[in-house]
Amino acid sequence: MKRGRISQTALKVALSLITLSVKDDWAERLPPGLVEISERLLLASGSPGYGPGLMRASKKQWMVRVYKIHDRLMPGQWEGFGHRKIFMQQQVERAIEEGARQVLVLGAGFDTLCLRLAPRHRDVHFFEVDHPATSAAKARGVAVLGQPENMIQIAADLGQRGLSKVLSEGGRWDPAQLSVLLAEGLFLYLKDDEVRGLLDEAAACTPHRSRIVFTHKIPDDRKVLPMILRLVGEPFQSAVRSEDLPGYIKGTGWAMISDVDTDAAHGIERYAVAERL
Ligand SMILES: C[S@@+](CC[C@H](N)C(=O)[O-])C[C@H]1O[C@@H](n2cnc3c(N)ncnc32)[C@H](O)[C@@H]1O
Repeated sequence: MKRGRISQTALKVALSLITLSVKDDWAERLPPGLVEISERLLLASGSPGYGPGLMRASKKQWMVRVYKIHDRLMPGQWEGFGHRKIFMQQQVERAIEEGARQVLVLGAGFDTLCLRLAPRHRDVHFFEVDHPATSAAKARGVAVLGQPENMIQIAADLGQRGLSKVLSEGGRWDPAQLSVLLAEGLFLYLKDDEVRGLLDEAAACTPHRSRIVFTHKIPDDRKVLPMILRLVGEPFQSAVRSEDLPGYIKGTGWAMISDVDTDAAHGIERYAVAERL
């Protein structure tokens, strides 16, 4: 990923959810508040090009048609963002019900889960980590929307710095607290050894029974999407079949607890949940 540049894929995920909300019944299916907060966050982030004109255009039916054309090149990818936001939120809410008192979103981008859930769960601490440029743009947006007291943003390159060090420097993370971690749309931008290194690190700062909910890219032979991502400076770095995940994460301190994700509606990124041994 290009240093010093706001993640274009993070912006794109948030924007595509705004368009998804005007397709079919997606407005009712997406988590409440997600679309409105995403729009306000993008506008307030000051990200170049992400002004009111683009927000208006994103809610037009002609934009839905543009995404449908994209979808022919990359089946499932667009609606997959909607499915995964629903899945991630369900997993976090379940983990909180079962006692998790820390939520950590890795590679948070312009995701709004912490902003939406922190005010509803005052006894839970919410943390986000992202690359410095993306984190700074999001922080501008969060400052305008109002930063919940129990939400912290940390700027760090997880390919360069160990998660446990990053969290301990932040001062508020408690490695003894039951936690739920999210890595949505992140692992595919890390090399295999970086993914496993990150899981090792995540295990070092969480207790037994904590969970990590993540997406992973499955191997495929599509050419267009990888080419576009190389052009925007965010090329895919890793891929693993869902069935191979138990072996892939073996020895990192985590074990898979979710079923193999065979759902083509999730596109090329599938969902998984692992538990801290
Ligand atoms: C595709 S976006 C996904 C954003 C968000 N999780 C979502 O799904 O809406 C990938 C995110 O991972 C972050 N990222 C990629 N490599 C990273 C790294 N080495 N350290 C920290 N963040 C990283 C990017 O800055 C970006 O925000």
